[in-house]
Amino acid sequence: MKNSGKIICLVLSVLLLVSLFSAPAGAETVTIGNAPARVSACIAGDNGQTVGFCWYTADKTDSVVTLTDEGGAPLDGAKLSEPVCEEWEGMWMHKVTASDLPAETLIAYTLGDGVNTVTGTVRTGGKADSVKFIEIADVQASSAENFEKGAATLRAAFETMPDAAFVANCGDFTNDSTNEEWDLYDGSFGEMNRTYLLAPVAGNHDGFGVADWFNNMFNLDTTESVQTKDGVNYSFDYGNAHFAVLNTNDCLNVSKPQLKWLKNDMNATDKDWKIVFIHKSPYTLGKDGKWPDALQLQQTLTKVCDETNVDLVIGGHDHQYLRTKPLTGNKLDPNGTTYLLSGTAGSKRYEVREFLAEHFMPKAFIDALVVQKGGYGNFWNGSDWRSTDERNVGGCYNTVEIDGGKLTLKSFILGDESQESMQIDALELTKNTGENKITYTGGNTTSKAAYAVGSVASYASLAVYAFTNWLPRFLVLVPELIYSVAVYDTF
Ligand SMILES: [Fe+2]
Ligand SMILES: [Fe+2]
Repeated sequence: MKNSGKIICLVLSVLLLVSLFSAPAGAETVTIGNAPARVSACIAGDNGQTVGFCWYTADKTDSVVTLTDEGGAPLDGAKLSEPVCEEWEGMWMHKVTASDLPAETLIAYTLGDGVNTVTGTVRTGGKADSVKFIEIADVQASSAENFEKGAATLRAAFETMPDAAFVANCGDFTNDSTNEEWDLYDGSFGEMNRTYLLAPVAGNHDGFGVADWFNNMFNLDTTESVQTKDGVNYSFDYGNAHFAVLNTNDCLNVSKPQLKWLKNDMNATDKDWKIVFIHKSPYTLGKDGKWPDALQLQQTLTKVCDETNVDLVIGGHDHQYLRTKPLTGNKLDPNGTTYLLSGTAGSKRYEVREFLAEHFMPKAFIDALVVQKGGYGNFWNGSDWRSTDERNVGGCYNTVEIDGGKLTLKSFILGDESQESMQIDALELTKNTGENKITYTGGNTTSKAAYAVGSVASYASLAVYAFTNWLPRFLVLVPELIYSVAVYDTF
């Protein structure tokens, strides 16, 4: 018995050693049903010093987050919220918010149920008068192949700007916002998503018509959001810039309560740079630019941007790249706001709708226009919509670097064939720092009653706008639209 005991001990010891040495060192994911999936770390407060973690599991499990610095030491003073674990579309959603994180620190996190875990990192800001970030939009894929193309675009963006503080995704993460598509998104983006802070923007494919998906995929600071059913509006500082994220699923574009929030929000900061992320873009030559919801933003959104000295608005929705010259009151103004339609990071790409030019989108406003589709116009030269450059067939990404009084935007296309990044546009803005003043110090929340009244007023305003402004202008361009359909099959 003594010998058999020794033999059993020896066999168990060997098995233990084999299992220890055969486990991949630093393995991040335990691939069983309750390994965390769809992990995101969102900016939920200034400088990423508050981070909203969200992940999914197949079954109901504990929601455990641990945080350390780069060297593995616990973070002094960091706080974790009470976890939320709720069923959503047949899976379990977990949310935990980490706050009071140290400034300018690379933070390592582990999350899961304590046994089945994944790890990731985020980098906080907070001291420097500078920030670098990447922006993409409209991956809007349904197939694994097209999600992979979108992920390749973001990987290329990180090769161009490896030290980006965060990624702004201006919406339409998926095409139909189904479990299958979010899992495909996670399959392509998941590993990368655990290396950065995300500032997500709700696209119409993420929210409108698929209510609650957006708010259940991302853990954001919704304290000041006017509503959270089909998207979220929120804001944060990073470096010497203030960022506001809008939700264009709100009453078909941006409701009156949300515009009021934006005005207060932008007047409540003295940061040097003011940037807005949005999904539907006011200035576009894409297929959605012909409808009143986008066109009304040329009146409503731009008015607030003018009043509050917003420097840059970055949006998506129409899958082409278009940057305006600075505008104020829908007129050229060197001190106005620049509007960037960011181009799609994915593979669904829209041709130019020439019939919109001059009617809805004055040519004189265009500073850069690149269509990512073969056989159509690109590198707008002021006269030829249909010059072509096959190198433009690829996914688009943008990098922005702010350093004191200088903002540098660079835009790129990752060629589908070449798999190389080609710079398609650059813009440099400069300003005197220290000139923005806080002019609003009140609260900025909206009651349910005020939102209900405001949303009725917003729909009424859109309807009036559609009949009195949009329709007369649309009827004028109908002959050109018919020509476009007949000759180019482009509606
Ligand atoms: Fe889109
Ligand atoms: Fe969209």
